[in-house]
Amino acid sequence: MPEQQEAEPTEDRQQTVDPAVIDREGLAALIGRERGTYAATHPRSREAFLASGRNLLGGVPMTWMRMWPGGFPLYLATAHGARLTDIDGNSFTDFCLGDTGAMAGHSPAAVRAAVTRRFADLGGATTMLPTQDAAWVAADLARRFGPSRWSFTLTATDANRWAIRIARQLTRRPKILVFSYCYHGSVDETFVVATPAGARSREGNVGAPVDPRETTRVAEFNDIAALERGLAHGDVAAVLMEPALTNIGIVLPLPGYLQLVRELTSLHGALLIHDETHTFSAGPGGCTRAWDLEPDIVTIGKSIAGGIPAGAYGLSAPLAERILADSQADIVDTGGVGGTLAGNALSMAAARATLENVLTDSAFGRMIGLADRYTAGVRDVLTSRRLPWTITQLGARAEYRFCPDPPRTGGESAAAGDAELDEYLHLYLVNRGVLLTPFHNMALMCPDTSEAEVDAHTAVFADAADDLLA
Ligand SMILES: Cc1ncc(COP(=O)(O)O)c(C=O)c1O
Repeated sequence: MPEQQEAEPTEDRQQTVDPAVIDREGLAALIGRERGTYAATHPRSREAFLASGRNLLGGVPMTWMRMWPGGFPLYLATAHGARLTDIDGNSFTDFCLGDTGAMAGHSPAAVRAAVTRRFADLGGATTMLPTQDAAWVAADLARRFGPSRWSFTLTATDANRWAIRIARQLTRRPKILVFSYCYHGSVDETFVVATPAGARSREGNVGAPVDPRETTRVAEFNDIAALERGLAHGDVAAVLMEPALTNIGIVLPLPGYLQLVRELTSLHGALLIHDETHTFSAGPGGCTRAWDLEPDIVTIGKSIAGGIPAGAYGLSAPLAERILADSQADIVDTGGVGGTLAGNALSMAAARATLENVLTDSAFGRMIGLADRYTAGVRDVLTSRRLPWTITQLGARAEYRFCPDPPRTGGESAAAGDAELDEYLHLYLVNRGVLLTPFHNMALMCPDTSEAEVDAHTAVFADAADDLLA
């Protein structure tokens, strides 16, 4: 079996001095102070939020937007490259980047030009007619990720949904297998966690059509025996996975693990789907190319069209031929695969511009170098303050987690969550001009991020740590 290549660069582990080092009362007081600053410096955002409740569900355009710490979200004014301003005139270095949707930076020039040309000059955003950009994008995704036959969606969620349907159709098997605490979008089958008593629906699962145990098997990431047990039932159509978990902190694969996943899925007749929506940060072809992996299907979304909605799934040529030849599979009408605006001319123009000119091989080199710098800066702060936390990097993204050892499974990483520390750090940074992803304090580099901005984060993070330990 080939050696599993390490994520580049890898996790960092800190030696703790005292796990009980955090004074919770002091932390609550600090959070109160930071909330006060946040409210005082964002009166217009607060007012806009309070005025929005009447007709917006939860007072926001999409309910996740309530999750920004501080009691109300910032309201966007402008965003260019790695910089963002709010309607109160505050300016930020944006390491959130739309939770990866803006990994190409905000409104990159090449995408702006392509979108203007398509929408304003040529005209026609959505026509149910193909444009030549789509074939270019498909060829580039094939070059980057391996699978040679691509189709488009508007979101990563839909890419996963349709990939799952195709996998079921091809294998004539009912179930999929996912990893505990994964996130693949609002895909019914994926809201399952592993517990010592077996699989259960994830807490808060809204209106599940059936108990997800009927559709899904679940294993902990990096636990090869659990995967083998799940596959041995012989009813799994596909394993849907991120090559590294990114939605419960970052959990990297242990050496050799992903090769074993590939071997076991082949052995048990299950297809292997890599969701590269976030792990695209590992390089121009995501983890799949960076680590020389061979999934049957790749799904992706969020960033590939520079902020314009687009997702995609790619099949290997033999799978593509089989699904096209399957007389029982209606993939051109109402068979459950496809969407009216998917693959539209505007998305395809934006995707081509993004892949051709923005998220290029050389841009990734620079972005990953910046994430190296970010990770090293945070590591220095953790070491010098002897804080019992880790930072894990995956290419252009990095995330700190409040445990001394890097988590090896979703369950371990979930247990290391600390909502108070998340809120404190997030607000502390926002109040000093640094924006991280709200759900999990993830930082992502885009082609426009600068070394000075990375160093500014390090300095503010160091101050936050010092205040916490004072
Ligand atoms: C790995 C992964 N796949 C899919 C999705 C779904 O993306 P979207 O909400 O844009 O459909 C997400 C969203 O966070 C994700 O993290």
